Amino acid sequence: MKTTTFLRELRKEVEGHPAVSHPVLTWLAEDAEGRGAFLTLGLQHYTLVGSFTSYLEELLITAPSPQEKIWIAKVLVDEYGGGSEGRDHATLYRQFLRAAGAQPDEELEVPLHANVVDFVATHQRLCRDEPFLVGFGALGPGHEWSIPTMFDPIVVGLRRVGFEESEIYYFTLHQEQDIDHGIWLEEALAQCIESSDDMACVRRGAMASLAARGKFWDAAQARIRSWLASELVPVANDSGPQTLKAMRRMKRVVKSRLG
Ligand SMILES: [Fe+2]
Ligand SMILES: [Fe+2]
Repeated sequence: MKTTTFLRELRKEVEGHPAVSHPVLTWLAEDAEGRGAFLTLGLQHYTLVGSFTSYLEELLITAPSPQEKIWIAKVLVDEYGGGSEGRDHATLYRQFLRAAGAQPDEELEVPLHANVVDFVATHQRLCRDEPFLVGFGALGPGHEWSIPTMFDPIVVGLRRVGFEESEIYYFTLHQEQDIDHGIWLEEALAQCIESSDDMACVRRGAMASLAARGKFWDAAQARIRSWLASELVPVANDSGPQTLKAMRRMKRVVKSRLG
């Protein structure tokens, strides 16, 4: 298969992957009420955001030639704040978390869902222990091609519940910046893929990353569901003593609010 055909097919596969259109994204766009669900999501998501540069730094060392190193270095410069007035992306995300209602350092104290821990461990392994093109596939097609599509519904939801543009800059920045990163990446991949084995490595990394991403959204959905249930407990208690009927009603309300 020609490299250009492979890249075109892979982009389609990435954009059509179930993780990229996870139901929790539609729910955030259309049904989330207030800032609490976004805070709950963000407190889990922050660990992914804060770990991303460590994967790139691993890959920068193992990149076999200058064209891949240039792509990685350019993306790292943006991550460190080169394209956002010196504010690195983790800092931008903490600004979003405070706007959503997070307490100082809450993102460091919140218990992480196992799938969040697994996401980071998976990407560390892909970028450190696997062939270079597997890690490149995970961070390139797996991240840069999928993130703008996944962030679109989140941004719709953030605006709908009343966040200011300055508060959601992390997300809107990535809607634009990751399109550039995806184009630079495609140029680097077009030059460095030389065989069907290379294509298989890139695809394996991309699919492993997206599988971990799907589990991350599952985790976010589970945490939002727990948060919604905890929000509803006082309502159940206010309406009288806790009963089986009230508990079942609460379960139905949570289900109807989050599918
Ligand atoms: Fe970023
Ligand atoms: Fe990016």
